[in-house]
Amino acid sequence: MNFAEMEPLFESVPGLVIIDTEGKTLYMSQQCADYFGVDKDSTIGKEIREYFPETTMIKNMNIEKPVVVFYNSYLGIGISVNFPVFDENGTRIGIGEYDVVQNSEVLYGLADDYRGFLDGVLNGQTGHLTTFDRTRYTINDILGKSLVMQELRRKIISTAATNSTVIISGETGTGKELVAHAIHNLSNRRQEKFIKINAASIPENLIEEELFGYEKGSFTGALDVGKKGKFELADKGTLFIDEINHLPMAMQPKLLRALQEKEIDRIGGQEPIPVDVRIITATNEDLKELVRRGRFREDLFYRLDVIEIDTPPLREHPEDMEEIIQSIIEELNVENGLSKVGVDDETLTELKNRYWKGNIRELRNVIESAMAFSKDDTIHLTDLDSTHAGKKVDLDALAARGNIIEQAKNDAEREVIMKVLERFNGNKTRAANYLGIARPLLYQKLKRLNIKE
Ligand SMILES: Nc1ncnc2c1ncn2[C@@H]1O[C@H](COP(=O)(O)OP(=O)(O)OP(=O)(O)O)[C@@H](O)[C@H]1O
Ligand SMILES: [Mg+2]
Repeated sequence: MNFAEMEPLFESVPGLVIIDTEGKTLYMSQQCADYFGVDKDSTIGKEIREYFPETTMIKNMNIEKPVVVFYNSYLGIGISVNFPVFDENGTRIGIGEYDVVQNSEVLYGLADDYRGFLDGVLNGQTGHLTTFDRTRYTINDILGKSLVMQELRRKIISTAATNSTVIISGETGTGKELVAHAIHNLSNRRQEKFIKINAASIPENLIEEELFGYEKGSFTGALDVGKKGKFELADKGTLFIDEINHLPMAMQPKLLRALQEKEIDRIGGQEPIPVDVRIITATNEDLKELVRRGRFREDLFYRLDVIEIDTPPLREHPEDMEEIIQSIIEELNVENGLSKVGVDDETLTELKNRYWKGNIRELRNVIESAMAFSKDDTIHLTDLDSTHAGKKVDLDALAARGNIIEQAKNDAEREVIMKVLERFNGNKTRAANYLGIARPLLYQKLKRLNIKE
Protein backbone atom coordinates (compact mmCIF):
# COMPACT_ATOMS: atom_id res chain seq x y z
CA MET A 1 0.00 0.00 0.00
CA ASN A 2 1.48 3.32 -0.96
CA PHE A 3 0.89 5.61 1.97
CA ALA A 4 3.12 8.36 0.57
CA GLU A 5 0.57 9.16 -2.14
CA MET A 6 -1.99 9.90 0.50
CA GLU A 7 0.30 12.25 2.43
CA PRO A 8 -1.59 15.51 2.04
CA LEU A 9 -4.79 13.85 3.15
CA PHE A 10 -3.16 12.03 6.04
CA GLU A 11 -1.58 15.19 7.34
CA SER A 12 -5.00 16.50 8.28
CA VAL A 13 -5.58 13.61 10.65
CA PRO A 14 -4.05 14.38 14.04
CA GLY A 15 -1.57 11.85 15.44
CA LEU A 16 -1.86 9.41 12.56
CA VAL A 17 0.41 6.38 12.70
CA ILE A 18 0.14 2.93 11.10
CA ILE A 19 2.16 -0.15 12.05
CA ASP A 20 2.42 -3.63 10.56
CA THR A 21 1.50 -6.87 12.32
CA GLU A 22 5.07 -7.08 13.66
CA GLY A 23 4.75 -3.73 15.39
CA LYS A 24 7.01 -1.93 12.88
CA THR A 25 6.10 1.52 11.63
CA LEU A 26 4.59 1.63 8.13
CA TYR A 27 3.61 5.26 8.20
CA MET A 28 3.82 8.20 10.54
CA SER A 29 2.48 11.60 9.64
CA GLN A 30 4.69 14.68 9.93
CA GLN A 31 2.34 16.04 12.54
CA CYS A 32 2.67 12.87 14.60
CA ALA A 33 6.47 12.76 14.24
CA ASP A 34 6.61 16.37 15.46
CA TYR A 35 4.45 15.43 18.40
CA PHE A 36 6.90 12.69 19.42
CA GLY A 37 9.87 14.86 18.48
CA VAL A 38 11.32 12.35 16.00
CA ASP A 39 12.41 12.47 12.37
CA LYS A 40 9.51 11.25 10.28
CA ASP A 41 11.45 9.31 7.60
CA SER A 42 13.71 7.53 10.04
CA THR A 43 10.73 5.98 11.82
CA ILE A 44 9.71 3.76 8.88
CA GLY A 45 10.41 0.10 9.62
CA LYS A 46 11.35 0.84 13.23
CA GLU A 47 9.64 -0.66 16.27
CA ILE A 48 6.82 1.67 17.25
CA ARG A 49 7.62 1.07 20.94
CA GLU A 50 10.88 2.96 20.45
CA TYR A 51 8.93 6.18 19.96
CA PHE A 52 5.72 5.34 21.58
CA PRO A 53 6.29 3.00 24.52
CA GLU A 54 2.78 3.20 25.98
CA THR A 55 0.99 2.45 22.71
CA THR A 56 -2.12 0.30 22.88
CA MET A 57 -1.79 -0.74 19.25
CA ILE A 58 0.26 -3.92 19.93
CA LYS A 59 -2.32 -5.15 22.42
CA ASN A 60 -5.15 -4.23 20.06
CA MET A 61 -3.54 -5.79 16.97
CA ASN A 62 -6.42 -8.20 16.33
CA ILE A 63 -9.38 -5.85 16.68
CA GLU A 64 -12.08 -6.12 14.01
CA LYS A 65 -13.53 -2.65 14.45
CA PRO A 66 -12.15 0.71 15.61
CA VAL A 67 -11.85 1.07 19.39
CA VAL A 68 -11.39 4.18 21.51
CA VAL A 69 -8.35 4.17 23.83
CA PHE A 70 -7.17 6.48 26.61
CA TYR A 71 -3.60 7.54 27.44
CA ASN A 72 -2.19 9.17 30.51
CA SER A 73 1.45 9.76 29.70
CA TYR A 74 4.12 12.40 30.22
CA LEU A 75 2.64 14.15 27.20
CA GLY A 76 -0.69 14.53 28.96
CA ILE A 77 -4.06 12.90 28.71
CA GLY A 78 -4.92 11.57 25.29
CA ILE A 79 -7.88 9.94 23.67
CA SER A 80 -7.28 8.05 20.44
CA VAL A 81 -8.88 5.61 18.09
CA ASN A 82 -7.16 2.35 17.14
CA PHE A 83 -8.41 0.99 13.84
CA PRO A 84 -7.58 -2.25 12.01
CA VAL A 85 -5.91 -1.93 8.61
CA PHE A 86 -6.64 -4.48 5.89
CA ASP A 87 -5.42 -4.66 2.30
CA GLU A 88 -7.78 -4.89 -0.66
CA ASN A 89 -8.07 -8.67 -0.20
CA GLY A 90 -9.18 -8.25 3.36
CA THR A 91 -5.88 -9.52 4.77
CA ARG A 92 -4.79 -7.79 7.93
CA ILE A 93 -1.66 -5.75 7.39
CA GLY A 94 -1.53 -3.99 10.71
CA ILE A 95 -3.21 -1.41 12.89
CA GLY A 96 -3.43 2.35 12.89
CA GLU A 97 -4.13 5.07 15.37
CA TYR A 98 -5.22 8.67 15.26
CA ASP A 99 -5.88 11.13 18.04
CA VAL A 100 -9.22 12.47 19.11
CA VAL A 101 -7.73 14.46 21.96
CA GLN A 102 -3.96 15.05 22.01
CA ASN A 103 -3.52 16.69 25.39
CA SER A 104 -5.30 17.87 28.50
CA GLU A 105 -5.93 21.35 27.14
CA VAL A 106 -7.77 20.00 24.14
CA LEU A 107 -9.68 17.72 26.46
CA TYR A 108 -10.86 20.60 28.64
CA GLY A 109 -11.83 22.57 25.55
CA LEU A 110 -13.75 19.56 24.36
CA ALA A 111 -15.50 19.25 27.71
CA ASP A 112 -16.60 22.88 27.41
CA ASP A 113 -17.80 22.35 23.87
CA TYR A 114 -19.69 19.30 24.99
CA ARG A 115 -21.37 21.23 27.80
CA GLY A 116 -22.30 23.96 25.30
CA PHE A 117 -23.62 21.33 22.94
CA LEU A 118 -25.77 19.80 25.67
CA ASP A 119 -27.11 23.21 26.65
CA GLY A 120 -27.92 23.82 23.00
CA VAL A 121 -29.74 20.53 22.83
CA LEU A 122 -31.65 21.26 25.96
CA ASN A 123 -32.65 24.66 24.67
CA GLY A 124 -33.98 22.93 21.62
CA GLN A 125 -31.38 24.19 19.17
CA THR A 126 -30.29 20.85 17.81
CA GLY A 127 -31.77 17.50 17.04
CA HIS A 128 -29.22 15.33 18.79
CA LEU A 129 -29.88 14.46 22.37
CA THR A 130 -27.41 12.65 24.53
CA THR A 131 -29.33 11.34 27.44
CA PHE A 132 -28.10 9.52 30.48
CA ASP A 133 -31.59 8.52 31.48
CA ARG A 134 -32.65 5.61 29.31
CA THR A 135 -35.77 4.87 31.28
CA ARG A 136 -37.93 6.93 28.99
CA TYR A 137 -38.19 7.55 25.30
CA THR A 138 -36.24 10.41 23.81
CA ILE A 139 -36.20 11.94 20.37
CA ASN A 140 -33.49 9.43 19.45
CA ASP A 141 -36.02 6.62 19.75
CA ILE A 142 -38.09 8.14 17.00
CA LEU A 143 -36.67 6.44 13.95
CA GLY A 144 -36.95 7.30 10.29
CA LYS A 145 -34.94 9.43 7.86
CA SER A 146 -37.87 10.21 5.57
CA LEU A 147 -38.92 13.81 5.13
CA VAL A 148 -42.10 13.34 7.18
CA MET A 149 -40.13 11.92 10.10
CA GLN A 150 -37.48 14.65 9.87
CA GLU A 151 -40.29 17.17 9.94
CA LEU A 152 -41.82 15.42 12.96
CA ARG A 153 -38.53 15.60 14.87
CA ARG A 154 -38.09 19.25 13.91
CA LYS A 155 -41.56 19.97 15.24
CA ILE A 156 -40.89 18.12 18.47
CA ILE A 157 -37.75 20.16 19.04
CA SER A 158 -39.43 23.49 18.45
CA THR A 159 -42.44 22.47 20.54
CA ALA A 160 -40.21 21.41 23.42
CA ALA A 161 -38.82 24.92 23.63
CA THR A 162 -42.29 26.28 24.46
CA ASN A 163 -44.73 25.74 27.27
CA SER A 164 -47.74 25.49 25.00
CA THR A 165 -50.44 22.86 25.07
CA VAL A 166 -50.03 20.22 22.40
CA ILE A 167 -52.44 17.89 20.62
CA ILE A 168 -50.73 14.86 19.11
CA SER A 169 -52.97 13.19 16.52
CA GLY A 170 -52.34 10.01 14.66
CA GLU A 171 -53.51 6.51 14.00
CA THR A 172 -52.91 3.82 16.55
CA GLY A 173 -49.32 2.65 16.86
CA THR A 174 -47.75 5.65 15.12
CA GLY A 175 -45.73 6.77 18.12
CA LYS A 176 -47.92 9.39 19.82
CA GLU A 177 -46.72 8.40 23.26
CA LEU A 178 -43.14 8.39 22.04
CA VAL A 179 -43.59 11.96 20.83
CA ALA A 180 -45.05 13.08 24.18
CA HIS A 181 -42.05 11.63 26.04
CA ALA A 182 -39.62 13.19 23.58
CA ILE A 183 -41.15 16.65 24.03
CA HIS A 184 -40.97 16.39 27.81
CA ASN A 185 -37.39 15.12 27.75
CA LEU A 186 -36.25 17.98 25.52
CA SER A 187 -38.11 20.65 27.47
CA ASN A 188 -36.87 22.58 30.46
CA ARG A 189 -39.26 20.50 32.55
CA ARG A 190 -37.30 17.32 31.84
CA GLN A 191 -36.00 17.09 35.41
CA GLU A 192 -39.56 17.16 36.70
CA LYS A 193 -42.24 14.53 36.50
CA PHE A 194 -43.91 13.20 33.37
CA ILE A 195 -47.33 11.97 34.48
CA LYS A 196 -49.65 10.06 32.22
CA ILE A 197 -53.38 9.55 32.39
CA ASN A 198 -55.50 7.68 29.86
CA ALA A 199 -58.94 9.21 29.56
CA ALA A 200 -60.34 6.09 27.89
CA SER A 201 -59.27 3.54 30.46
CA ILE A 202 -60.59 5.21 33.61
CA PRO A 203 -64.25 4.76 34.52
CA GLU A 204 -66.18 7.97 34.11
CA ASN A 205 -66.96 8.30 37.82
CA LEU A 206 -63.29 8.03 38.81
CA ILE A 207 -61.75 10.39 36.34
CA GLU A 208 -62.30 13.51 38.41
CA GLU A 209 -60.51 12.12 41.45
CA GLU A 210 -57.75 10.78 39.21
CA LEU A 211 -57.19 14.20 37.67
CA PHE A 212 -57.83 16.45 40.64
CA GLY A 213 -57.65 14.27 43.77
CA TYR A 214 -59.79 14.63 46.85
CA GLU A 215 -59.66 16.03 50.36
CA LYS A 216 -59.74 13.63 53.30
CA GLY A 217 -63.21 12.63 54.40
CA SER A 218 -64.82 14.04 51.29
CA PHE A 219 -66.80 10.84 50.68
CA THR A 220 -67.32 7.43 52.21
CA GLY A 221 -64.33 5.25 51.44
CA ALA A 222 -62.00 8.20 50.87
CA LEU A 223 -58.48 7.79 52.19
CA ASP A 224 -57.88 9.47 55.56
CA VAL A 225 -55.07 11.51 54.13
CA GLY A 226 -56.88 12.52 50.97
CA LYS A 227 -55.36 11.93 47.59
CA LYS A 228 -53.36 13.95 45.12
CA GLY A 229 -54.64 13.99 41.57
CA LYS A 230 -52.47 13.74 38.47
CA PHE A 231 -52.41 17.52 38.12
CA GLU A 232 -50.80 17.94 41.51
CA LEU A 233 -48.43 15.04 40.88
CA ALA A 234 -47.33 16.63 37.63
CA ASP A 235 -46.78 20.06 39.22
CA LYS A 236 -43.79 21.79 37.49
CA GLY A 237 -43.67 18.91 35.02
CA THR A 238 -45.75 17.55 32.18
CA LEU A 239 -49.17 15.91 32.24
CA PHE A 240 -49.84 13.66 29.27
CA ILE A 241 -53.56 13.06 28.74
CA ASP A 242 -53.79 10.14 26.36
CA GLU A 243 -56.98 9.45 24.37
CA ILE A 244 -58.32 12.88 25.29
CA ASN A 245 -61.10 12.23 22.74
CA HIS A 246 -62.67 9.92 25.34
CA LEU A 247 -62.75 12.54 28.09
CA PRO A 248 -66.35 12.52 29.30
CA MET A 249 -68.34 15.66 28.49
CA ALA A 250 -68.99 16.27 32.18
CA MET A 251 -65.26 16.48 32.89
CA GLN A 252 -64.44 18.84 30.08
CA PRO A 253 -65.39 22.13 31.81
CA LYS A 254 -63.30 21.12 34.83
CA LEU A 255 -60.28 20.49 32.67
CA LEU A 256 -60.88 23.79 30.90
CA ARG A 257 -60.95 25.59 34.23
CA ALA A 258 -57.69 23.97 35.33
CA LEU A 259 -56.03 25.07 32.11
CA GLN A 260 -57.37 28.60 32.19
CA GLU A 261 -56.98 29.37 35.86
CA LYS A 262 -53.87 27.24 36.43
CA GLU A 263 -55.46 25.95 39.60
CA ILE A 264 -57.45 22.88 40.47
CA ASP A 265 -60.11 21.96 42.99
CA ARG A 266 -59.76 18.71 44.85
CA ILE A 267 -63.07 16.92 45.37
CA GLY A 268 -64.35 18.20 48.70
CA GLY A 269 -61.58 20.80 48.83
CA GLN A 270 -62.18 24.29 50.22
CA GLU A 271 -59.42 26.20 48.48
CA PRO A 272 -58.21 25.93 44.88
CA ILE A 273 -54.65 24.63 44.59
CA PRO A 274 -52.32 26.42 42.14
CA VAL A 275 -50.59 24.11 39.66
CA ASP A 276 -47.93 24.68 37.02
CA VAL A 277 -48.37 21.91 34.49
CA ARG A 278 -47.62 21.58 30.82
CA ILE A 279 -50.37 19.63 29.07
CA ILE A 280 -49.75 17.27 26.17
CA THR A 281 -52.72 15.37 24.80
CA ALA A 282 -53.06 12.58 22.27
CA THR A 283 -55.99 11.48 20.16
CA ASN A 284 -56.58 8.94 17.43
CA GLU A 285 -59.79 10.66 16.35
CA ASP A 286 -60.08 14.02 14.70
CA LEU A 287 -61.00 16.34 17.58
CA LYS A 288 -62.33 19.02 15.23
CA GLU A 289 -64.76 16.48 13.87
CA LEU A 290 -65.82 15.57 17.42
CA VAL A 291 -66.41 19.24 18.13
CA ARG A 292 -68.56 19.42 15.02
CA ARG A 293 -70.58 16.44 16.19
CA GLY A 294 -71.02 17.97 19.65
CA ARG A 295 -68.94 15.31 21.37
CA PHE A 296 -66.12 17.59 22.41
CA ARG A 297 -66.45 21.10 23.80
CA GLU A 298 -65.30 23.75 21.39
CA ASP A 299 -63.86 26.01 24.11
CA LEU A 300 -61.75 23.17 25.50
CA PHE A 301 -60.64 22.20 22.02
CA TYR A 302 -59.34 25.70 21.32
CA ARG A 303 -57.63 25.83 24.68
CA LEU A 304 -55.83 22.52 23.95
CA ASP A 305 -55.17 23.12 20.28
CA VAL A 306 -52.22 25.50 20.51
CA ILE A 307 -49.70 23.25 18.78
CA GLU A 308 -50.76 20.35 16.59
CA ILE A 309 -48.43 17.47 15.86
CA ASP A 310 -49.44 14.65 13.53
CA THR A 311 -47.71 11.30 13.67
CA PRO A 312 -47.72 9.86 10.14
CA PRO A 313 -48.95 6.32 9.49
CA LEU A 314 -46.35 3.83 8.29
CA ARG A 315 -47.75 3.80 4.74
CA GLU A 316 -46.78 7.46 4.37
CA HIS A 317 -43.10 6.69 4.96
CA PRO A 318 -42.38 3.18 3.65
CA GLU A 319 -38.79 4.27 3.01
CA ASP A 320 -38.23 4.10 6.80
CA MET A 321 -39.42 0.51 6.98
CA GLU A 322 -35.99 -1.09 6.74
CA GLU A 323 -34.49 1.02 9.52
CA ILE A 324 -37.49 0.47 11.77
CA ILE A 325 -37.56 -3.29 11.14
CA GLN A 326 -33.85 -3.52 11.88
CA SER A 327 -34.29 -1.68 15.16
CA ILE A 328 -37.26 -3.86 16.15
CA ILE A 329 -35.20 -6.98 15.41
CA GLU A 330 -32.32 -5.72 17.54
CA GLU A 331 -34.66 -4.93 20.43
CA LEU A 332 -36.38 -8.30 20.22
CA ASN A 333 -33.04 -10.11 19.97
CA VAL A 334 -32.15 -8.69 23.37
CA GLU A 335 -35.59 -9.31 24.84
CA ASN A 336 -35.86 -12.90 23.64
CA GLY A 337 -32.22 -13.95 23.56
CA LEU A 338 -32.17 -14.34 19.77
CA SER A 339 -29.56 -13.36 17.18
CA LYS A 340 -31.49 -12.62 14.00
CA VAL A 341 -29.73 -10.32 11.58
CA GLY A 342 -32.55 -9.03 9.40
CA VAL A 343 -35.19 -9.75 6.78
CA ASP A 344 -34.49 -10.87 3.21
CA ASP A 345 -35.32 -8.56 0.29
CA GLU A 346 -38.47 -10.40 -0.65
CA THR A 347 -39.82 -10.07 2.88
CA LEU A 348 -38.90 -6.40 3.06
CA THR A 349 -40.82 -5.72 -0.16
CA GLU A 350 -43.80 -7.66 1.15
CA LEU A 351 -43.78 -5.75 4.45
CA LYS A 352 -43.50 -2.41 2.63
CA ASN A 353 -46.54 -3.31 0.53
CA ARG A 354 -48.80 -4.25 3.40
CA TYR A 355 -51.40 -1.94 4.79
CA TRP A 356 -50.50 -1.48 8.46
CA LYS A 357 -53.65 -0.62 10.31
CA GLY A 358 -51.85 -0.86 13.65
CA ASN A 359 -48.72 0.78 12.26
CA ILE A 360 -45.41 0.24 14.08
CA ARG A 361 -47.02 -1.65 16.95
CA GLU A 362 -48.58 -4.11 14.53
CA LEU A 363 -45.36 -4.34 12.52
CA ARG A 364 -43.55 -5.18 15.74
CA ASN A 365 -45.98 -8.02 16.50
CA VAL A 366 -45.61 -9.46 13.01
CA ILE A 367 -41.80 -9.31 13.26
CA GLU A 368 -41.86 -10.88 16.72
CA SER A 369 -43.86 -13.85 15.50
CA ALA A 370 -41.73 -14.16 12.34
CA MET A 371 -38.60 -14.21 14.50
CA ALA A 372 -40.04 -17.09 16.46
CA PHE A 373 -40.79 -19.04 13.26
CA SER A 374 -37.52 -18.25 11.52
CA LYS A 375 -35.11 -21.19 11.41
CA ASP A 376 -31.90 -19.43 10.41
CA ASP A 377 -30.60 -15.96 11.21
CA THR A 378 -32.77 -14.19 8.63
CA ILE A 379 -36.51 -13.69 8.33
CA HIS A 380 -37.94 -15.09 5.11
CA LEU A 381 -41.33 -14.71 3.50
CA THR A 382 -42.38 -18.12 4.81
CA ASP A 383 -41.78 -16.94 8.40
CA LEU A 384 -44.39 -14.19 8.18
CA ASP A 385 -47.43 -15.32 10.06
CA SER A 386 -50.40 -16.63 8.18
CA THR A 387 -52.83 -14.20 9.85
CA HIS A 388 -54.01 -11.24 7.83
CA ALA A 389 -52.06 -8.75 9.88
CA GLY A 390 -51.12 -5.83 7.71
CA LYS A 391 -52.32 -7.56 4.54
CA LYS A 392 -53.32 -5.30 1.69
CA VAL A 393 -56.93 -5.10 0.70
CA ASP A 394 -57.54 -8.09 -1.56
CA LEU A 395 -58.72 -6.26 -4.66
CA ASP A 396 -59.61 -9.32 -6.71
CA ALA A 397 -61.82 -10.71 -3.98
CA LEU A 398 -63.61 -7.38 -3.69
CA ALA A 399 -64.00 -7.02 -7.44
CA ALA A 400 -65.59 -10.43 -7.58
CA ARG A 401 -68.29 -9.12 -5.25
CA GLY A 402 -69.23 -6.18 -7.45
CA ASN A 403 -68.56 -2.44 -7.20
CA ILE A 404 -65.28 -2.23 -5.30
CA ILE A 405 -65.64 1.27 -3.87
CA GLU A 406 -69.17 0.60 -2.72
CA GLN A 407 -68.04 -2.62 -1.05
CA ALA A 408 -65.13 -0.93 0.67
CA LYS A 409 -67.38 1.87 1.95
CA ASN A 410 -69.88 -0.65 3.24
CA ASP A 411 -67.18 -2.64 4.99
CA ALA A 412 -65.86 0.47 6.67
CA GLU A 413 -69.32 1.66 7.65
CA ARG A 414 -70.27 -1.77 9.00
CA GLU A 415 -67.12 -1.88 11.12
CA VAL A 416 -67.71 1.56 12.62
CA ILE A 417 -71.36 0.90 13.40
CA MET A 418 -70.63 -2.44 15.01
CA LYS A 419 -67.92 -0.89 17.17
CA VAL A 420 -70.20 1.93 18.30
CA LEU A 421 -73.03 -0.47 19.10
CA GLU A 422 -70.63 -2.56 21.08
CA ARG A 423 -69.48 0.46 23.05
CA PHE A 424 -73.05 1.41 23.97
CA ASN A 425 -74.06 -2.19 24.68
CA GLY A 426 -76.45 -2.18 21.75
CA ASN A 427 -78.30 0.98 22.90
CA LYS A 428 -79.39 2.42 19.54
CA THR A 429 -80.40 5.84 20.77
CA ARG A 430 -76.96 6.44 22.23
CA ALA A 431 -75.23 4.87 19.24
CA ALA A 432 -77.16 7.05 16.78
CA ASN A 433 -76.38 10.07 18.90
CA TYR A 434 -72.69 9.22 18.95
CA LEU A 435 -72.67 8.66 15.18
CA GLY A 436 -74.40 11.98 14.66
CA ILE A 437 -77.33 10.42 12.75
CA ALA A 438 -81.05 10.04 13.50
CA ARG A 439 -82.21 6.76 15.00
CA PRO A 440 -84.37 5.70 12.01
CA LEU A 441 -81.37 6.15 9.73
CA LEU A 442 -79.35 3.89 11.99
CA TYR A 443 -82.06 1.19 11.66
CA GLN A 444 -81.94 1.54 7.88
CA LYS A 445 -78.19 1.14 7.89
CA LEU A 446 -78.34 -1.92 10.12
CA LYS A 447 -80.67 -3.52 7.63
CA ARG A 448 -78.77 -2.51 4.51
CA LEU A 449 -75.42 -3.56 5.92
CA ASN A 450 -76.89 -6.78 7.20
CA ILE A 451 -75.73 -6.16 10.77
CA LYS A 452 -77.14 -8.74 13.14
CA GLU A 453 -77.59 -7.67 16.73
N1 LIG B 1 -40.96 6.50 14.73
C1 LIG B 1 -40.82 5.41 15.49
N2 LIG B 1 -39.62 4.80 15.58
C2 LIG B 1 -39.47 3.70 16.33
N3 LIG B 1 -40.43 3.12 17.03
C3 LIG B 1 -41.63 3.66 16.99
C4 LIG B 1 -41.90 4.84 16.24
N4 LIG B 1 -43.20 5.15 16.38
C5 LIG B 1 -43.71 4.22 17.18
N5 LIG B 1 -42.79 3.32 17.56
C6 LIG B 1 -43.02 2.13 18.41
O1 LIG B 1 -44.32 1.67 18.13
C7 LIG B 1 -45.00 1.30 19.31
C8 LIG B 1 -46.26 2.13 19.47
O2 LIG B 1 -45.92 3.49 19.77
P1 LIG B 1 -46.85 4.38 20.72
O3 LIG B 1 -47.32 3.60 21.88
O4 LIG B 1 -46.13 5.65 20.98
O5 LIG B 1 -48.06 4.61 19.69
P2 LIG B 1 -49.41 5.42 19.89
O6 LIG B 1 -49.53 6.33 18.73
O7 LIG B 1 -49.44 6.01 21.26
O8 LIG B 1 -50.50 4.28 19.73
P3 LIG B 1 -52.00 4.19 20.39
O9 LIG B 1 -52.85 5.21 19.71
O10 LIG B 1 -52.42 2.80 20.04
O11 LIG B 1 -51.83 4.42 21.85
C9 LIG B 1 -44.01 1.45 20.44
O12 LIG B 1 -43.40 0.21 20.66
C10 LIG B 1 -43.03 2.46 19.90
O13 LIG B 1 -41.78 2.27 20.49
MG1 LIG C 1 -50.67 5.61 22.87
